[in-house]
Amino acid sequence: MKMRVLGIETSCDETAAAIVEDGSRIISNVVASQIEIHARYGGVVPEVASRQHLLTIIPVIKKAVAEAEWQNIDGIAVTFGPGLAGSLLVGVNVAKAIALARKIPVLGVNHLESHIYANWLESSPPGSARRVDFPCLCLVVSGGHSDLVLMKGHGLYEKLGRTRDDAAGEAFDKAARILGLGYPGGPAIERAASSGIPSLSLPRAWLRESHDFSFSGLKTALWHLVHKGGVSVPDVAASFQMAVVEVLVSKTVEAAKQLKVEQILLSGGVAANRTLMGHFLAKSPVPVLIPPPHLCTDNAAMVAACGYYRLQAGEVSGYDLDVVPGLSIG
Ligand code: KG4
Ligand code: ZN
Repeated sequence: MKMRVLGIETSCDETAAAIVEDGSRIISNVVASQIEIHARYGGVVPEVASRQHLLTIIPVIKKAVAEAEWQNIDGIAVTFGPGLAGSLLVGVNVAKAIALARKIPVLGVNHLESHIYANWLESSPPGSARRVDFPCLCLVVSGGHSDLVLMKGHGLYEKLGRTRDDAAGEAFDKAARILGLGYPGGPAIERAASSGIPSLSLPRAWLRESHDFSFSGLKTALWHLVHKGGVSVPDVAASFQMAVVEVLVSKTVEAAKQLKVEQILLSGGVAANRTLMGHFLAKSPVPVLIPPPHLCTDNAAMVAACGYYRLQAGEVSGYDLDVVPGLSIG
């Protein structure tokens, strides 16, 4: 019997709903981005985000479900953390209300875990569900997290490393602000870097004895470089991007060799970066799975995919499901 899960995601600045069949086939995937609204302020404003989720969540869910019909939906998976409390609350409460009304199970899903499950989603061409082999090493690089996680099976995680200061996406966002490139910073830096040369010297924090990351020193060095003047923005963007990419790739590849994993799974908004992708594919001794860019950034299809495996295993949340803004993985 096929199982269709409705995924709901409102942890930050995207209001999203999706229907996914059997944890991989995307029936619908609707994302309403608030980027234009927050760009005015140079970053996400929590109060504005939650109000916008309230306005958008019902139309977004209706649009996602229109393609599937309610009677064909077997369960709901909703992000309950980590994220902005007011934003998470909108998704969690709507999910519980729908579950109660439709008498279907609801399950709270960890946003970071769901990013990893974007690798289970079928991407073009249709029918090409990609096989994930355990144990695999997952690098989750988003706006709030840079986690290196050993995954031994569904729901079995061991966190090996994390960022000690700025997350990789946060570093891109701050660097873009310093360079006056706007928000969100990742795509802006990538665009500027495409016409630059990574010729400027910027530091890399290797933290040799650990799987942790650190990007705040790089950000400070970038600030000094820019304020000294006389450098070209594309060259600074390209040099910054290269510094982040080199650290992420070499530390992850080193861990993959040590742990003898079958595969490396990239996920999170920063995984949409083409230079990162290129370096991973060139340097990794094992296959690297990378979701297509629109499934790297926040979406609800990944939430539904993650929820599918949990619901299949018999997990379900109660109506007392609450948000956990500081939730981590492993
Ligand atoms: O996973 P995500 O959509 O949201 C969070 O869970 O945080 O990640 C957003 C982050 C932002 O910091 C954004 O600048 C970064 O991902 N990002 C990128 C790219 N696209 C998005 N960073 C580097 N290169 C990109 N192409
Ligand atoms: Zn995310």
